[in-house]
Order: sequence, then structure tokens, then C-alpha cells
Amino acid sequence: MSFRSTLILLNVIALVLILAFLAWRILSVRRNPGTKVPENLGDGHSDEQLEGPRLERALGTSLIFVLVVALALPLYFVFEPGRQTRALDGFDERAVERGATLFANNQMPGYDPTKSLLCANCHGVDAQGGAAPWVLQPELDKCDDVENKSNAAVPECLPQQVAWAAPALDTVLLRFDPEQVARILVWGRPGSPMPAWGVESGKGVLNSQSINDLVAYLESIQITKEQAQARSTKVAVQYRQDAASNLKSQQQLLADARAALAKAQAGGTAAAVAEAQVKVDTQAAVVASAQKWADQVAAMSEGEVLFRTNCARCHTKGASYFDPNNLRLPTPPSPGSGAFGPSLTDGSTLLQFPGQAGVQLQYNWVAVGAPENEGYGVRGVSSGQMPHFENLLTEKQINAIIAYERSL
Ligand code: HEC
Ligand code: HEC
Repeated sequence: MSFRSTLILLNVIALVLILAFLAWRILSVRRNPGTKVPENLGDGHSDEQLEGPRLERALGTSLIFVLVVALALPLYFVFEPGRQTRALDGFDERAVERGATLFANNQMPGYDPTKSLLCANCHGVDAQGGAAPWVLQPELDKCDDVENKSNAAVPECLPQQVAWAAPALDTVLLRFDPEQVARILVWGRPGSPMPAWGVESGKGVLNSQSINDLVAYLESIQITKEQAQARSTKVAVQYRQDAASNLKSQQQLLADARAALAKAQAGGTAAAVAEAQVKVDTQAAVVASAQKWADQVAAMSEGEVLFRTNCARCHTKGASYFDPNNLRLPTPPSPGSGAFGPSLTDGSTLLQFPGQAGVQLQYNWVAVGAPENEGYGVRGVSSGQMPHFENLLTEKQINAIIAYERSL
């Protein structure tokens, strides 16, 4: 039985006892009316009686009562601040719990089918990042023509299913402050798979308390600055390794396809040979693309790799779903040419952060940022939407990125 129901039960028992006692008193007086003179109608007590044990009893109970008050008040004074803190902690804990339920998917302990919003499906059960399904609409002018629309013979005009990288959220409060995260949750990221969740946006269902619960949950799972920096470094190393190992596995697939072709040529039907030949040709094209990509990555400066792993998702269109093996994707635009964040190319950062002094200004902006509506660089005004990187990258890494940006 919970503490609450025990208390209720005790109160009910006490109430029943009091009622029973009153009933018994009333009934017993009614049954034997004459036997006892009511005290206020009797002769009262003599002075000796009053000042004897009776007085002592009255004084004794008063003393006990005073002692209780004298002890209880200081105890209350001592324990009240602690109780308040515990109440606040309890409040925070419950907010985190509610946030965990909102975040969860069915592989997580907090999952509740009627409440959970499945953030984990895109951002990962451990909130270390994941991928979101996204349908890429064709943008070529010729795809506006009726005869090319949904025409399988013009594959570049078919909508494409891609996987859009969803960022890790166990570092999100190292790059944004809680109000900025709340704003992202309310409004989502238009033009990306991240939906708007807040009622305030007119598109979501969450009130500000639920938004705050989600932020509280995210705060509770943040890793440390050191861990985040170690991760950024690892991700950059991984980026190079992935390009090389992708090339290897695509080459293996090509070798397999060639072996299958040889086998078909040795004893298969003409149709089987033709089919195997198509597979070889397609895979050869993928290998060429993977090769080009691996060469490109191998030649990248450290600053460029770090730009691609930290900044490109906002500053280069298509960076979140780039895949060197997918030949149907439109050719990616040049790095830093703008998407959610502005273009950094054609020397635009040199205009915003001019000269040698500009390097420091640019560092301040990328590392620390500026509060919403305040200026940065020469004529920049912060919208409070760009994350900041002093907790995620080392000074050296930020400087490498800045040098790269200034060369764009
Ligand atoms: C359908 C997939 C999907 C779901 C569901 C989803 N997100 Fe996202 N979220 C994304 C993607 C993709 C991005 C990155 C968008 C971009 O590239 O600009 C993102 C971005 C974010 C960001 C900004 C992080 C940053 O560094 O830019 C936050 C915070 C966030 N999501 C929190 C949540 C929370 C909390 C939920 C659940 C209420 C949620 N997301 C549900 C896909 C999703
Ligand atoms: C979540 C998206 C996002 C990411 C990630 C991001 N930025 Fe930005 N960036 C923006 C937005 C949005 C702006 C425009 C300024 C504003 O709205 O406050 C901006 C502006 C800038 C500017 C100023 C451009 C100008 O000419 O005014 C620079 C420089 C910049 N970002 C560099 C970086 C670097 C370096 C990184 C990675 C280390 C990065 N950004 C990562 C969104 C992003």
C-alpha cells in the first residue's frame, strides 16, 4: 500500500473511532439521564481540589504542549530548506522521467505507446545520432514537364528515398543553450526531417511544459566536454577510414559481379549473361564514384574534414544524405555553398570577418557565438540558430576549420 493510501486509511479509522465515541456518549447520557449532574450545573470543586493534583495535571499537559512546540518549530526550521530542495529535485526528476517517455521508442524502458513521440527512431536509442527517412523531390527544370514526371524512363525525375543523418543529441546542450533547444523543438527544422513539436508553431502538440520536459531529459543525458571532443576527433578519423573502406567493399562487389558474369558466360543463357553484364557495368560505375570520393577525401585538409563532419549539414545542401555509392543523387554543390546556414563561399567570410583581426572575430563566432539579435563579424546578426563549438572541438580544430572556410 502506498504512503498516501495508508494515511487515508488511518484518517478514516480515526474518524470512525471519534464518531463511535460520540455516539456512545450521547446514547449513554440519554439512557441514564438522572444518574449524573452535568459538570457545569454541579457544585464545582473546592479550592483544595482545584489547586491540588488537578492544577498539576493541567500545568503538566501545558508543559508537554509547550515542549512539543518548542521542539517542533526549530526542527521545522532546520528541515524545511532540505525538504524544499528535495521537492525541487523531485520536480526535476519527474520532468526528466516525463521527457524520457516522450523521447523513447519501444526499445527503451520509458516507452509508453500513448505518450512517446519516438525521437529515438531518428536520433538513436542512445541519442548518439541516427538517420531519418526522407523523400528527395527532383529539382531539375525538365522534371516539371508532364512527360517526365513520375516517368520510370527518366530516373532523375523520380522522387528518391534517402537517409538524412540526424545529429547526436547527447551533445546538443554543449552547442546550444536550453532556450535554443526548446525553440528547435517547438519549430522543428523546416526543410529537414525534424518535425515541429510545439503547439506554438501551429504544427505540433506539445505545450511548453512537455517541451521543457524534453529539454530536461536531454540535459540529463549530456556527455562531458572532454568526451564530446574525443568523439569529434574520432568522427573525423572515421570519415577518412569510411571512404577508404567503402571503396574496398565496392571493389569486392565488383569482383563478385565479374565472377558471376564469367560463370554466366561459361554456361548460362544469353539472358543471364546480359543480366550479369548489366550488374557488372552498374557496379563498375559505383566503384568509379567510390574511387573518386576516396581520392577526394584522402586529399582533404584536416580543416575540410572537420568542416564536413561538423558544419556541412547546415552549410552545404545535401550534405546530410550524401552517399558516394548512390549515382542517382544530384551532384553535390560545392562545400559551404549554403543551405540552412548562409553560403561561406566566394570569400564571403572574408567580407564578414575581414583581415587578420577578422580571424579572431570569426573564431569568436564559431567557438562562442553571439546571443540572438546581437551582432557578429561586420554586419552579421545572430538568429540564435547556429550551434557553437568551443565544447565540441579543440581550439586547434576550430582554427583549422576557419582557415579552410577562409579559403572557400
Ligand atoms: C523523423 C525523424 C526525426 C524525429 C522523429 C525527430 N527528429 Fe530531431 N532531428 C531530425 C533531423 C534529421 C535533424 C537534423 C536536421 C538538420 O539536418 O538540420 C534533427 C534535429 C534535431 C535537433 C537539433 C540538433 C542540432 O544540433 O541541430 C534537436 C534538438 C532535435 N532534433 C530533437 C528532437 C526531439 C526531442 C525529438 C522528439 C520529440 C525529435 N528530434 C524527433 C530528425 C528527427
Ligand atoms: C545547425 C546548423 C548549423 C551548423 C551545424 C553550423 N552552422 Fe554556421 N551558421 C548557421 C546559421 C543559421 C548561420 C546564420 C547566422 C545566424 O542565423 O545566426 C550561420 C552562420 C555562420 C557563419 C557566418 C556567415 C556570415 O557570412 O555571416 C560562419 C562563419 C559559420 N556559420 C561557420 C560555421 C562553422 C565553422 C560551423 C562548424 C564548425 C558551422 N557554421 C556549423 C547554421 C549552422
